[in-house]
Amino acid sequence: MSFETLPGFRAFYPENAAKRAAIFGLWRAAASSFNFLEYDAPVLESLELYIEKSGEEIVGQLFHFEDRGGRTVALRPEMTPSLARLVGAKANSLKRPIKWFNIGEHYRYERPQKGRLRAFYQFNADILGESSAAADAELMTLLVHALKGFGLDATDFKLRLSDRDLWLFLLQAEGLDSTISLAVLSIIDKLERTQREKTIEELTSVMGESAVAFMAKVETLVAIRDFPALEKYFSRLALEKPLAELIEARLAEWRFLLKALENSGVSEFVEIDFGIVRGLAYYTGFVFEAFEASGEGRALAGGGRYDDLVGKLGSQSMPAVGFAMGDVTLGDLLEKKGLLAVAESSPDFILIIGGEAERAQALSDASALRAAGYSVEYPLKELAFGKQFKEANQRGARFAIVYGSDELEKGVLKVRDLTAGEETDYPRENLIELAKSLYGKVSK
Ligand code: HAM
Repeated sequence: MSFETLPGFRAFYPENAAKRAAIFGLWRAAASSFNFLEYDAPVLESLELYIEKSGEEIVGQLFHFEDRGGRTVALRPEMTPSLARLVGAKANSLKRPIKWFNIGEHYRYERPQKGRLRAFYQFNADILGESSAAADAELMTLLVHALKGFGLDATDFKLRLSDRDLWLFLLQAEGLDSTISLAVLSIIDKLERTQREKTIEELTSVMGESAVAFMAKVETLVAIRDFPALEKYFSRLALEKPLAELIEARLAEWRFLLKALENSGVSEFVEIDFGIVRGLAYYTGFVFEAFEASGEGRALAGGGRYDDLVGKLGSQSMPAVGFAMGDVTLGDLLEKKGLLAVAESSPDFILIIGGEAERAQALSDASALRAAGYSVEYPLKELAFGKQFKEANQRGARFAIVYGSDELEKGVLKVRDLTAGEETDYPRENLIELAKSLYGKVSK
């Protein structure tokens, strides 16, 4: 019987583990330059946490089971419900705004396909305790900053910005109640991936005959790419008070957000696109997704405001906004652009050992060098000098130190610069000083 990796799961051989580490490193660097604090939560949670909180789509994709204690549990498909619970539980003692990030694995039982797996990593960043759109702008700026950190620019990716508030006002203007509105939004969420006739059919089933006329309004709205066109769209609807006032107030929030994005220098990455409504149930305001600029592939990241989730989890309510970026679509894009080249790691020193008699000194020096922060390798079994040098060259080490009987007798350290192919003898006493001078006096 042969065992294979399960569908949608990945094994990470060192080359891929190094790429993953490079991605995590840049995510972490971006988060800390915005002074976000790292947190973590369990990978296994009560199933209940995701039912209703995450929305139909994710619930249908849960890895869930009954544990030995009879609890119904699920592997986390996303971080946001756990985060809301964690923050809610200490709402009074946490200093606001709460700016937290996490890098962790998540699990969804999706059909494995390009850009979609069953186990993937996400970089989650969220701000809780701040209702102003300044927080939305800060997160969108972090998202852009993180992607730029990989060497991507505005020709590579775009942030598509939309607004569930404006969508809900529009649906209200159509006379739809909040339950029907949510059903309509989930149909719109699939607009791009669904045939027009099918969308109209689905809309008709929830809103009746008016679906055809409504579809035309939807198509005009989702084609809008700039703010003046958005303002014009809503003014042409010529709505009555109080809806007209609500929309005007919302458009003022938009102006504030767009100005903040402009001031942070990320406007060129942001595009208005009301085709984005987000599949998760908890979003309440601005929502956004990052995509390749070419429009190819699944989303690189997604997020938005979710002001009701902390309150719904039983604690006091708290405004919140955040996003998550996945490693799968990002990794594919970086590979495509040649931006994920990771140099194979090589030791600072390779020790070349003549025989068992010299091994004792080599081992003791290896420990001293390692304690000083250098990476050191030596052969674990006896090998001919020639073979050891050949391997040292293949490993890409810069320096080899030779432990032959001659060197030990004379009390010298014979160092071979493997790049220059030169050998020099140094006095034995000062191993660490020598290492520092070889590496340009930089204490590693
Ligand atoms: P999401 O849109 O479900 O949002 O996922 C965010 C990102 O995770 C996606 O854009 C994608 O890159 C990645 N992702 C999701 N599912 C998969 C999969 N099956 N395979 C590979 N990558 C995947 C959320 O998860 C929200 N909790 C984000 C959030 C944080 N909202 C507020 N705070």
